[in-house]
Amino acid sequence: MRPSICFVPPFLLLLLHLAFARPLFPLPSKTKNEEKRPLQTFRPYNIAHRGSNGEIPEETAAAYLRAIEEGADFIETDILASKDGALICFHDVTLDETTDVAKRKEFANRRRTYEVEWFNVTGWFVVDFTLEELKTLKVKQRYSFRDQQYNGMFTIITFEEFISIALDADRTVGIYPEMKDPVFINKHVKWADGKKFEDKFVDTLLKYGYKGQYMSENWMKQPLFIQSFAPTSIVHVSKLIDSPKVFLIDDITVRTQDTNQSYWEITSDDYLAYIGKYVVGLGPWKDTIVPAARNYLMPPSDLVARAHAHNLQVHPIHVQE
Ligand SMILES: *[C@@H]1O[C@H](CO)[C@@H](O)[C@H](O)[C@H]1NC(C)=O
Ligand SMILES: *[C@@H]1O[C@H](CO)[C@@H](O)[C@H](O)[C@H]1NC(C)=O
Repeated sequence: MRPSICFVPPFLLLLLHLAFARPLFPLPSKTKNEEKRPLQTFRPYNIAHRGSNGEIPEETAAAYLRAIEEGADFIETDILASKDGALICFHDVTLDETTDVAKRKEFANRRRTYEVEWFNVTGWFVVDFTLEELKTLKVKQRYSFRDQQYNGMFTIITFEEFISIALDADRTVGIYPEMKDPVFINKHVKWADGKKFEDKFVDTLLKYGYKGQYMSENWMKQPLFIQSFAPTSIVHVSKLIDSPKVFLIDDITVRTQDTNQSYWEITSDDYLAYIGKYVVGLGPWKDTIVPAARNYLMPPSDLVARAHAHNLQVHPIHVQE
């Protein structure tokens, strides 16, 4: 008798089974699915932040496909631009934390220091690499405490590839892309037609049929929230696309990406009334809703109640660490 076996709970066995049975994920096929299961709207949305990034390196096709397999309502991504103007899914403006760029001798001389949102940052910047060069890099886990076995197996994907993953899913899967660091991108990347980063971002969404206000027929077919920490970008794209937008709010020490406004300025009732003309909701950093101090949860702030009083949804970011 080996008692330890008897006490393995059934769900653990199931997890083990899933871990071993899990295939590796290529980009999906273009096959059409006729009657797709609609987006659920009876409970809060489950938004997969950078894909299933606890398991598989963030912002890769494999991480997004895994999130869909696990039941995410939306897949979330950060959009940046390459030197030659391609829109890519990548979180940091530097490649250092989540790719093998530091090991690539041919790129050793690409290291730079640029000002990014009020700070000087040194590293290998996405805006100094063409899409072709970016595609040669291999993505890895951001944190050492995560599963490292998928490091080096997947590449950076484009915004269009990300959209195709959502549209090719066998049920309705929404997308939740962020216009990332727009001031920095517009400073370093120029498009031949004179358009800005935010215009290119919207052009891509329109090209794939994304449109319609929250809960409209078009929106239910291809659900989309556009998110940004930069209020001027949100106001700009509101003239170009009627899809719902979410204003992101970082920790109380962080200023807005474009207008350098403080947390207190952008969460005042006056400001919520202003930004509420352009967005359906706020995406506040979770510690601004329930602050934590010395590993204890503190009483909640009044942010959710005040957002709701302004008829704004609240999509907290993010519950992964
Ligand atoms: C960044 O570095 C440059 C050159 O050393 C300096 O002129 C600039 O003030 C720095 N910017 C910030 C925000 O520290
Ligand atoms: C941003 O605002 C802070 C606080 O008012 C100020 O100290 C800082 O100089 C500002 N930065 C820029 C680049 O305007």
